[in-house]
Amino acid sequence: MDLASQIYVRKSCRKYLDDEIDMNQINEFLSNVKSLIPEISYYYEILTKDEVNIRTRWKAPYYLAIYSEKKDNFGVNAGFVFQQLSLYMQTLGIGSCWVGMASVKQDNPDFVILIAFGKSDDLTRDISQFKRKDLSEIADSPDDKLKPAQLAPSAVNSQPWYFKHTDEGFDIYKVKPNVLKRKIIGKWMDIDVGIVLAHLYVSNPETFEFEVKNKKDIKGYSYIGSIKI
Ligand SMILES: Cc1cc2nc3c(=O)[nH]c(=O)nc-3n(C[C@H](O)[C@H](O)[C@H](O)COP(=O)(O)O)c2cc1C
Repeated sequence: MDLASQIYVRKSCRKYLDDEIDMNQINEFLSNVKSLIPEISYYYEILTKDEVNIRTRWKAPYYLAIYSEKKDNFGVNAGFVFQQLSLYMQTLGIGSCWVGMASVKQDNPDFVILIAFGKSDDLTRDISQFKRKDLSEIADSPDDKLKPAQLAPSAVNSQPWYFKHTDEGFDIYKVKPNVLKRKIIGKWMDIDVGIVLAHLYVSNPETFEFEVKNKKDIKGYSYIGSIKI
């Protein structure tokens, strides 16, 4: 099971088959998944499309609802954990898509976001079909080590991350949104940052370490944490 290779072929899936899925594999994977910030507890629930309010034009047969304790960086942690699942599902022929434009019908203050998923025969694409910022736009200097980060999905493809080299790896920053954007995509940006970190983790599983240090923000960006890879 090579999760890292999925990064280069994956896409957000919006065309699903109605086939049933064996949820044991998903539950099993999630019982062993790596957490970014182990102090933050989270849980999930697998729902059918009738149990969610969907505001997208497309639907999936299943929705995974993510819930978390709302400690600092809970969104980053949720993105990190469940993007690993998304890459894993892709190896099983299961497509998925993060959906900000949906919510659970049963209100729950711990609710974070949903991931739509289901079997699909429209799972992959060629690298040339990724629409992404240049490596030079997402870092202080372009670095091929950031290729898996460059290809990470984000809400409305905003790619709100920025990397600065350190001796051991990178400091990671998140775009400070302007007032208008804060309302629309601000709450998803932490999840986006967790997703980008998941891509760097599965690409460097032996060496990856994350730590929040006492570092300052830089112009236009807030400091999130530092990684060794
Ligand atoms: C936090 C988050 C929320 C998203 N919400 C939606 C959504 O509500 N509807 C949708 O169709 N796609 C949604 N997406 C998918 C993005 O639009 C998609 O990841 C991005 O355009 C990049 O395309 P790709 O995933 O195919 O590489 C979301 C993605 C993320 C990470």
